[in-house]
Amino acid sequence: MDKIRLAFLGCGKIAQVRHIPEAARRGDVEIAGYYNRSPLKAHQMAKLYGGKVYGSEEELLKDEDIDAVIISSANHLHMKLTIEALSQGKHVLCEKPMAMTLEDSIAMVEASKKTGRILDIAHNQRLNKAHLKAKELIKNGAIGKVLSFRSTFGHGGPETWSSSPGKDVWFFKKDAAGMGAMADLGIHKTDLLQYLTGEKISEVSSMMGTLDKRDEKGELITVDDNAVCLFRLESGAVGTMTVSWTYYGPEDNSTRIFGTEGILYVYEDEDHPLKLVRKDHTAEYFEVDEMQTNDQQTVSGVMDSFLEDVKRGESSILSASEILYSMQVVFACQEAFRTGKTIKVNELKGVVE
Ligand SMILES: NC(=O)c1ccc[n+]([C@@H]2O[C@H](COP(=O)([O-])OP(=O)(O)OC[C@H]3O[C@@H](n4cnc5c(N)ncnc54)[C@H](O)[C@@H]3O)[C@@H](O)[C@H]2O)c1
Repeated sequence: MDKIRLAFLGCGKIAQVRHIPEAARRGDVEIAGYYNRSPLKAHQMAKLYGGKVYGSEEELLKDEDIDAVIISSANHLHMKLTIEALSQGKHVLCEKPMAMTLEDSIAMVEASKKTGRILDIAHNQRLNKAHLKAKELIKNGAIGKVLSFRSTFGHGGPETWSSSPGKDVWFFKKDAAGMGAMADLGIHKTDLLQYLTGEKISEVSSMMGTLDKRDEKGELITVDDNAVCLFRLESGAVGTMTVSWTYYGPEDNSTRIFGTEGILYVYEDEDHPLKLVRKDHTAEYFEVDEMQTNDQQTVSGVMDSFLEDVKRGESSILSASEILYSMQVVFACQEAFRTGKTIKVNELKGVVE
């Protein structure tokens, strides 16, 4: 097969530290070009990795020589750009969260089915080595039947991470971000818990709040900076997910899964990223990678997985149609908080299988 010609819509931080370098290290890729709202970042990437700078999103998407696009713009553009790219015959790797509404997320998956083009979502947590191993251990019965779990994703917030840092960052604006910590971090762990256990989350309740983050005017931001969710899995297992943009210290990206035969500890201990403790208290440690954090970027595997899907002509581990249900759970959490009720995920309007 000829080289896959890739183009990047959005040259912000995640494209700079992850997608573009991860594409550039592959021999089967040609970097065709970039579009970014402020052209400076696109020019910087072109200088570093080659390829041209397009004048508009439309110009890039109309280029018939491009096989696939990577969408890493702010959240409010994901749906529109994905559907336009698919309808122009491109394969798409889109950043998380897929979209701002469940209806938009469904429309993206439908567009992928209609056009027969790949739509993958950059859920890098699925590909972390400790998560892959934990999934295998759970499947093989290492902790018996899953009874409970807790997962956390917290750091000091996106205003220092963004390539345009500051209190006026788009992550803090409802019109560009949709949701706050819940969509930014919660989508990762909502998806991860289902991925690890092989079960769907069937019921949710949640508490969200804007506790500390203030915008450039000194006003509390319009999206959540903390969320705590209670989840029930299809089997009846119950547990929690906590996400925060106000952990002003070390990042917490840990997960514990409790089963009838023991406990799995994932990314809790720097020296032991994956630990299995059986109910007789014997422990086993697994040699896997360290957690990828905002400050410490390792190869995520997202680009490799997407490009292999493009070559094979079929989505796999990052398939949007599978990740869609995780979006439904996130919106169910939002609804649960809005109404103060426990929500059955499959009763949410716009239900997906
Ligand atoms: N998979 C992950 O772990 C992960 C990590 C970080 C970011 N992301 C996602 O990647 C996407 C980009 O995030 P980032 O970290 O690169 O952010 P960033 O602030 O560094 O870049 C934002 C990008 O969006 C574009 N943009 C379009 N409209 C904008 C607007 N109204 N305001 C500001 N920027 C606008 C910018 O030009 C830029 O390309 C987001 O959807 C984010 O959720 C995913």
